[in-house]
Amino acid sequence: MGAPHSETVVSTRVSEPSCATTALSAVYLDGVGKSYGALEALRSVSLSISRGEFVCIVGASGCGKSTLLRMIAGFEEPTTGTLMVDGQVVSGPGPDRGVVFQDYGLFPWLTVAGNIAYGPRRRGIGRAEVKAVVERFCGVVGLAAFADKYPHELSGGMQQRVAIARVLANGSGVLLMDEPFGALDALTRSSMQAELHQLWGELNSTILFVTHSVEEAVYLADRVVVMTGGPRHDTPGHIGATVAIDLKHPRDPTSAAFNARKRELLAAIEAEPTVASTPG
Ligand SMILES: Nc1ncnc2c1ncn2[C@@H]1O[C@H](COP(=O)(O)OP(=O)(O)OP(=O)(O)O)[C@@H](O)[C@H]1O
Ligand SMILES: [Mg+2]
Repeated sequence: MGAPHSETVVSTRVSEPSCATTALSAVYLDGVGKSYGALEALRSVSLSISRGEFVCIVGASGCGKSTLLRMIAGFEEPTTGTLMVDGQVVSGPGPDRGVVFQDYGLFPWLTVAGNIAYGPRRRGIGRAEVKAVVERFCGVVGLAAFADKYPHELSGGMQQRVAIARVLANGSGVLLMDEPFGALDALTRSSMQAELHQLWGELNSTILFVTHSVEEAVYLADRVVVMTGGPRHDTPGHIGATVAIDLKHPRDPTSAAFNARKRELLAAIEAEPTVASTPG
């Protein structure tokens, strides 16, 4: 597959990734399923994400987006299928993957600087280098003046920026973000989107980002994975379609091209059957 030649959006059914893509992929899933007792939450999820790619996942509540991220993070094991990160079968959490959840997960007894320094310290990095990392990432997320504050002294948006800085400071190649901006006000959210996108370019990381916002997905992603199914739909969660967003950055959400991509993504979401089997 070559580089996109025009601003067309390619909407394709996901096919099984070939073995050849395994070694090249930052994240590779082949036929991954997950059951919780009798509940089959996910079935036959196959997805290959290249190094440095920014992929968004959208889909209705309960279709298994968080479950998928937790398995890639190594917090949960797939029931079936193969799951690899950087060519290694995932067998638990690791420093190669950074996770940002919606509820921040900051250590309340540590300051902003302490939270950001936590990962680098655990990795045995020297004091001077930890200090430099803390300064860099406090600056990156605009919290240099708040380094000595505790999480409860910060707004929700600031706490979320600390959570992002903390993950970035770990230098993980793969960032897994589960609705990280869901609780932010519209202005903070759009500035965080722009910051995240810029950082992604600078850090050369691979990002898998769950969002309920079609606009956010079109703004950020190289490719959007549309998930469907879930208990409300009588069928296990699965990937319905992928949509490539081949617009240049920075993207202008008010432009006609941006809105055309939004419409196409919405059409892909709406095209997904909401029930497994229809009569006749
Ligand atoms: N630990 C668990 N035990 C039992 N069932 C679970 C567990 N975690 C998730 N599930 C079920 O798996 C399905 C998928 O849940 P998941 O949280 O992945 O959905 P989601 O797509 O992230 O939804 P949302 O958009 O609401 O965050 C749901 O039916 C949920 O009830
Ligand atoms: Mg979720």
